[in-house]
Amino acid sequence: MGSPQRPPLAHVFRGTFVHSSRSAPMEILHEHLLGVDDSGTIVFLEQSDQQEQLAKKWGFKTSDIRELSNYEFFMPGMVDTHIHAPQYSFTGTRVDLPLLQWLTTYTFPTEAKYKDSDFAEEVYTRVVRRTLKNGTTTACYFATIYTDTSLLLAEILDKFGQRAFVGKVCMDVNDSMPQYKEITADSVRETERFVKELLEKKYPRVQPIITPRFGPSCTEDLLHALGNLAQAHDLHVQSHISENEEEIKVVENMFPAYQNYTELYDKNKLLTSKTVMAHACHLSEEELKLFSLRGAAISHCPSSNFSLCSGILNVQMVLKHDVKLGLGTALGLDDVIGNFEVGKEFDALLINTKASDSPFDLFSADNFEDTVQKFLYLGDDRNISEVYVAGKQVVPFSSSV
Ligand code: GUN
Ligand code: FE
Repeated sequence: MGSPQRPPLAHVFRGTFVHSSRSAPMEILHEHLLGVDDSGTIVFLEQSDQQEQLAKKWGFKTSDIRELSNYEFFMPGMVDTHIHAPQYSFTGTRVDLPLLQWLTTYTFPTEAKYKDSDFAEEVYTRVVRRTLKNGTTTACYFATIYTDTSLLLAEILDKFGQRAFVGKVCMDVNDSMPQYKEITADSVRETERFVKELLEKKYPRVQPIITPRFGPSCTEDLLHALGNLAQAHDLHVQSHISENEEEIKVVENMFPAYQNYTELYDKNKLLTSKTVMAHACHLSEEELKLFSLRGAAISHCPSSNFSLCSGILNVQMVLKHDVKLGLGTALGLDDVIGNFEVGKEFDALLINTKASDSPFDLFSADNFEDTVQKFLYLGDDRNISEVYVAGKQVVPFSSSV
C-alpha cells in the first residue's frame, strides 16, 4: 500500500530564512527548505540536505521548488498593532499641534468625511494597498464612528488579503465637534451591528475589535456597555491610554471616582488579555502592574509620540513589569504567526537586497547579517518583491483586486 494521498503543497521554497524564535532574537537559516500546504500552514522547515526524504513524504518534485538567489531571503510579515485607516489621507502632514488640539483641528473633521462611502473606499483601498506593499501582513485598524464604511474597510481588507482587526470607533463625547460623535445607545447598538455583520461575512482573517476611542471621548455608560459586549462575545479591545499629560488631566476631571486611567478601563472590563492600548507613555508603576496582571498589551507608537510631542515611553520599565509590548506578539496571535515555525501560517516577505532600484548598496565586506541589517535600517518596499499572507501571494497585487 502506498502512503495516503496528500493534497499537493502550495509552495516549496529553498534558500535563506530569517526570523526570531524564543531561543534567538535573530536566526539566519541558510540552505533551508520550507513547505507550505494548501491551507497556508508551514509544514516543514529543514536543512536542504533533507530534500529527498521531504520530497518523498510530501510528494513534491525538484521542479516544484522555488529557488531563492543568494541576495534574497524570506522574513516574517510585519505586524502593525495600531493604525488609523481614515487618517491615512493626511499622513505625513499636520503634525504641528499637541494631541487634543490635533484631534479637534485635523482629525475629527477628517474622520467625519468617512460617512461618504466613495471617499472611504478610495482612502481605505489606498491604505490597505500601501501597507501591504510595505510588508504589513497584519494590522490592527481603527476606522471611524460610521458602521457601514467600517464594514467596507473590512471588505477591502478581505479582498486584498491582509490579516486584520477592524474597530468601529465609539465616542459619545465631543464638545469640539458635536457632529462627530454618537448618542450612547446608538454607539452600543451600532457596535453590536458591526460585530454581528462582520462575523456573518466569515472573512477568514478579518476580525472585529471593540474600540472605545479613549477616556475623553467616552461616558462611563458607554465604556461599561462596551466592556460587557467585549466580555459577552470574547472580543479583542483596543483604545488609547496616557498618551499626553493634558489628556490624563481631562480623564482625572471626567472620572474622579477612579484611581487612575488604567482603572477606568479595568473596572469597565476593557483591560483584558485581549486588549491593546496605544501609547501608554505616562503610566505609573502601579498601572503597569495592573496591565501585567490582566495580560493587557501596549502598542508603542514612537513616531506619533515624537511628532505630537506626547511623551516618551520608558520601554525598559514596561518590560521590567513583564507587560506585553507591540510589535508582533501584542495582538495575541503568536501561536498563528510571527515566525517560520512548523504549524504557523506562512505570513512572509520575500526580500531582494539587490533589487535594481534598491535604496542601499552592498559591498564585498558585507556578511549576510550586515545585509539583513541594511535592509532593516535602510530598505523599503523596493526590496520587498513578494508578500504572502497565510500562504497566499498578496503582493504583487493580483489583477482581480
Ligand atoms: N487618542 C484618541 N484618538 C486618537 C487618535 O486618533 N490619534 C492619537 N494619536 N491619539 C488619540
Ligand atoms: Fe491612535
